[in-house]
Amino acid sequence: MPIPDPKRYTVTAALIYANGPIHIGHLAGCYIPADIYVRYLRSRGKEVAFISGTDEHGVPITIRAKKEGLTPQQVVDKYYAQIDTAFKELGISFDIYSRTSKAVHHETSQEIFKDLYDKNVFVEETTEQYFDETAEQFLADRYIVGTCPVCANPNAYGDQCERCGSTLSPLELKDPRSMLSGAKPILKATKNWYLPLDTMQPDIENYINSHNEWKTNVFGQCQSWLKDGLKPRAMTRDLDWGISVPLPDTDGKVLYVWFEAPIGYISATKDWLIQKNGTDEGWKKWWQPTAPDEETKLVHFIGKDNIVFHCIIFPAMLMAEGNYILPDNVPANEFMNLEGDKISTSRNWAVWLHEYLEELPDKQDVLRYVLTANAPETKDSEFTWKDFQTRNNSELVGIYGNFINRAIVLTQKFCESKVPARGTLQEIDEIALKDLAEFPARIAESLETYRFREALTLIMDLARSGNKYLAETQPWHAIKTDPERVNTILNIALQISATLSIVSEPVLPFTAAKIQGQLGMINKTWEYAGNQDLLSAGQPILEAKLLFEKIEDHVIEKQIQKLHDAKRMNELEGKTVAAIKPEIQYDDFGKMDIRVATIVAAENVPKSKKLLKLLVDIGLEQRTVLSGISEHFSAEEVIGKKVLYLANLAPRKMMGLESHGMILMAEDRDGSLAFVQPGKEVWNGGTVN
Ligand code: MF3
Ligand code: ZN
Repeated sequence: MPIPDPKRYTVTAALIYANGPIHIGHLAGCYIPADIYVRYLRSRGKEVAFISGTDEHGVPITIRAKKEGLTPQQVVDKYYAQIDTAFKELGISFDIYSRTSKAVHHETSQEIFKDLYDKNVFVEETTEQYFDETAEQFLADRYIVGTCPVCANPNAYGDQCERCGSTLSPLELKDPRSMLSGAKPILKATKNWYLPLDTMQPDIENYINSHNEWKTNVFGQCQSWLKDGLKPRAMTRDLDWGISVPLPDTDGKVLYVWFEAPIGYISATKDWLIQKNGTDEGWKKWWQPTAPDEETKLVHFIGKDNIVFHCIIFPAMLMAEGNYILPDNVPANEFMNLEGDKISTSRNWAVWLHEYLEELPDKQDVLRYVLTANAPETKDSEFTWKDFQTRNNSELVGIYGNFINRAIVLTQKFCESKVPARGTLQEIDEIALKDLAEFPARIAESLETYRFREALTLIMDLARSGNKYLAETQPWHAIKTDPERVNTILNIALQISATLSIVSEPVLPFTAAKIQGQLGMINKTWEYAGNQDLLSAGQPILEAKLLFEKIEDHVIEKQIQKLHDAKRMNELEGKTVAAIKPEIQYDDFGKMDIRVATIVAAENVPKSKKLLKLLVDIGLEQRTVLSGISEHFSAEEVIGKKVLYLANLAPRKMMGLESHGMILMAEDRDGSLAFVQPGKEVWNGGTVN
């Protein structure tokens, strides 16, 4: 017997580290799908807690603090505010956006730790761990880098290799080095508490195997973990930023960030209730429902790098505690790339949400649309600005916006801005109404199985069928001969528009609200979708407003330029001015004969990548000089250039040619070259002293 659909859902979206702003990769991977799912559930009348917040502990925070010259607290305060605002503006409809630095979270995590400790779940073990003697600190997780034992990536972190996705522990790294000082660490004994995933493996296996409905990428990753055999994992760390271990004599130790961060979902639920009702009473029904009628489904939305923590480690913790429901599904997405390259915060290759919202105002739904249409649901996908423009112009403007706009404008024109009544139906009308009735269930099915791309395709198919219906029935012609017929056609077109607004609301909430405003729809939830009398005849229609506008080439060109500029700036960062060479005497300089000259001829040197053969006029005579600038300048563009020329440098043979003297060039920060020229036109042969 199929389990009846629960009426209550606890839906979480990953608690992102508060160590940087949100970019489109985060949105496509986790937050937009989560928001679509939740908006759909609410429209179906389900009780939902949509939980998220920032993860404010762990090494990523302290590393960022060091880089920005701030305290960890300043870092998390800064990014929490920025992330929270950006999500709100994008219409991500969290019930609570909490933080793991809150007291309620510290208490909840310590309670669960203490509880597991009292139940003898942990294995206490003293082991040798890497320690940086210069920084006087143990090197947990991302404080240590080295070569990945699986794929030989030289920059794998102590907890994970970002290249091959392997989860690691610091001792597995080859050639380990400290992120703090670059030094080779020593080994030092320390005590920690381990979650014995090895002995828990059978239970975890049963749990995972009972969920073969999970997405293949998620289920597959879990299986490969289980196949390798789970290993005990330390749930404490020797660090000073984090939640202190609630046991005696544990100074300098904190809870492992991946122990407490997922507990953040539980504490955020409490935080939500406290903010709403002044007490956390009732939190258990979201996490520890008792009566069968209280059945609650727990769903975690995350990106693929978080799979093991949500599918294995967190469920293992919850199982060991004993009273909690386990995740029912973990619909993790793959990654989204950007313009042919991996999105990277450190290389500044990203589209940042807060900047998007500022530079492309009132285009929240366009971003939501594009990131859904292109979501990395089963494999990595790619965002390009060109595709963004095309989808906006040909799909949102050309299909969706066009259909609804025509339905409303024609009603204003031909039906005195009121929903007309349907008359006798023709076959084409019957088909349109049948389609209309069937689409919502198909869309719902896709949404319920986390296939949001497919849902969006169906939504657009409904808009397309609306356009086709208008194109075939041609109310603008029919009006001349048969106004009754026009009433029927526009009634049907408006009913389709009304349903479109309901079924697309999860993806396009801003647009749906505009449409529903224009059509005078109030509180129309999913149950009305597909209904052919959703709008009653006679109901007034408001002035049509443009739903989407065309995006011009210059708008996206600017974005592409910005992306490349940011990457370039980032590459330059960290470059320093070369040190000064050892001192010389006045006479050393005096030996050099530097002259003003003009390049009068130039040609490429066959088979040489770098050299140009130049003829320079130095007043007295013309000289041949080979100059290593052909990667920066073409022969044509240097002809006629005034230059400074070192005239008494001993001749040298290169590529079988003799070179006399040398042209002086200045090198810029990015490695590009510039000619050094006199500040005014000086005659050839003029001396430089
Ligand atoms: N902070 C992690 C990240 O940004 C995600 C943590 S999800 C949580 O990758 F549930 F564990 F909090
Ligand atoms: Zn690797």
